[in-house]
Amino acid sequence: MERYWHIERQPLIASLQLKPGQIVLDAAVGTGLNLSAYPEGVSVVGVDLSHKMMDEARKKRVAADITFKVSDMCNLDFPDNSFDAAASGFTLCVINDPVRALAEILRVTKPGALIAILDYCKSQDPEIQKWQELISDSSSQLGFPTGKSKCDRTRAISF
Ligand SMILES: C[S@@+](CC[C@H](N)C(=O)[O-])C[C@H]1O[C@@H](n2cnc3c(N)ncnc32)[C@H](O)[C@@H]1O
Repeated sequence: MERYWHIERQPLIASLQLKPGQIVLDAAVGTGLNLSAYPEGVSVVGVDLSHKMMDEARKKRVAADITFKVSDMCNLDFPDNSFDAAASGFTLCVINDPVRALAEILRVTKPGALIAILDYCKSQDPEIQKWQELISDSSSQLGFPTGKSKCDRTRAISF
């Protein structure tokens, strides 16, 4: 997929301003497209519901120290204030309860932690909204996303 649809992850991870020794949550790590952007000296905990996605992520060459854990973003298996920062890419458009997932990220990160989200969401501009809905309708008529992968690119998430 990356051949046709590549979005650079460096700016997302750089926005976390990570320092050596910090521990960061990569929420719904998937196949690990964020992982190469994490700097050396940082510890990353990647969580996802899918073992298979994380098996792909394990193959990635990375500078940071990465561990993986199966965990539901809506019920994260970590105590409060466990992480110095968190990142999540293209997850809120697929997850059943994005508000709950964001609340969980807030719970497990320390007060004042930076949280970086890269995702599709509904534009606040009504003109752009019309185009988003048109594209969303036509792509579902073309069979994407498939029955297996549910992706809503026009979600308005208030938190
Ligand atoms: C579109 S992929 C994005 C993966 C990766 N973050 C990226 O940027 O490429 C969405 C991922 O969310 C995971 N996922 C969906 N619902 C989840 C949940 N409730 N808890 C944890 N992971 C979930 C899926 O298994 C999948 O790996």
